[in-house]
Amino acid sequence: MNAAADTAGGTPILRAESVTKRFSGLVSVDQVSFEMRKNEILGLIGPNGAGKTTLVNMISGTLRPNEGALYFEGQPIDALAPYKRAHLGICRTFQVMKPFPGMSVLENVTVGALFGRDGGETAMAKARESARDWLDFTGLSHRIDARADSLGGPDRKRLEFAKALAMGPKLLLLDEVMAGLNSVEVEEVIELIKKMRERGVTILVIEHVIKAIRSLSDRVLVLHHGQKIAEGDPAAVLEDPQVVEAYLGRRRH
Ligand SMILES: Nc1ncnc2c1ncn2[C@@H]1O[C@H](COP(=O)(O)OP(=O)(O)OP(=O)(O)O)[C@@H](O)[C@H]1O
Ligand SMILES: [Mg+2]
Repeated sequence: MNAAADTAGGTPILRAESVTKRFSGLVSVDQVSFEMRKNEILGLIGPNGAGKTTLVNMISGTLRPNEGALYFEGQPIDALAPYKRAHLGICRTFQVMKPFPGMSVLENVTVGALFGRDGGETAMAKARESARDWLDFTGLSHRIDARADSLGGPDRKRLEFAKALAMGPKLLLLDEVMAGLNSVEVEEVIELIKKMRERGVTILVIEHVIKAIRSLSDRVLVLHHGQKIAEGDPAAVLEDPQVVEAYLGRRRH
């Protein structure tokens, strides 16, 4: 029997099968397997250097696994360039944000709308209109004509979200979008992520802010030295002695 058919909602939107990535002999992601169901929020945690960003890079296509395979909606994706994966609906934000600096906020998000899921089929006027909608959604309408590089931290995060959302993601990969935000701003971003999910987006959240992981995640996956050491219900995983030892306990010091 096909195990995938057993999961609620049919074929998983994403399936990783024993994915491994090595850099000059060192294993950064070590035979990691997991699935994501449509419309779920999966929290991905682990200490610095655990392999979280490397895993996201393999899903979005900037890196290819040395071993193993990734499937999106049942189709193998490892041979596809990042832009082709974006056309399928796999979009990501970057841990180090990359706005187009000389361009306005509106232009940045319009680029997202032009090069996202519809893959070059979107007319400029429609793309701009969609960009305005997403800037409204993310609370950045008042900075629409500002240069992207003039934005402060929280507004840059909103811009990253608006750009990613304008691409029409089915699967959104968020790599530490809360880093450097204060607790009020963290709450705002949590609400924004919840709103995205209500719109039908499936979301992978990498975050060191455990409060956010707890409040957002349907399930949590923990990486340590590139290996999956726990996966499942957030409360149970965050209490798991191995996880506390590897990660949470250490961060208390
Ligand atoms: N391009 C690369 N070349 C060589 N080594 C790399 C490269 N990218 C990542 N690594 C190594 O792979 C390991 C995992 O790094 P990764 O950035 O995936 O960790 P992370 O879990 O995202 O950590 P953080 O929480 O600090 O962002 C680290 O040892 C890192 O030095
Ligand atoms: Mg990282």
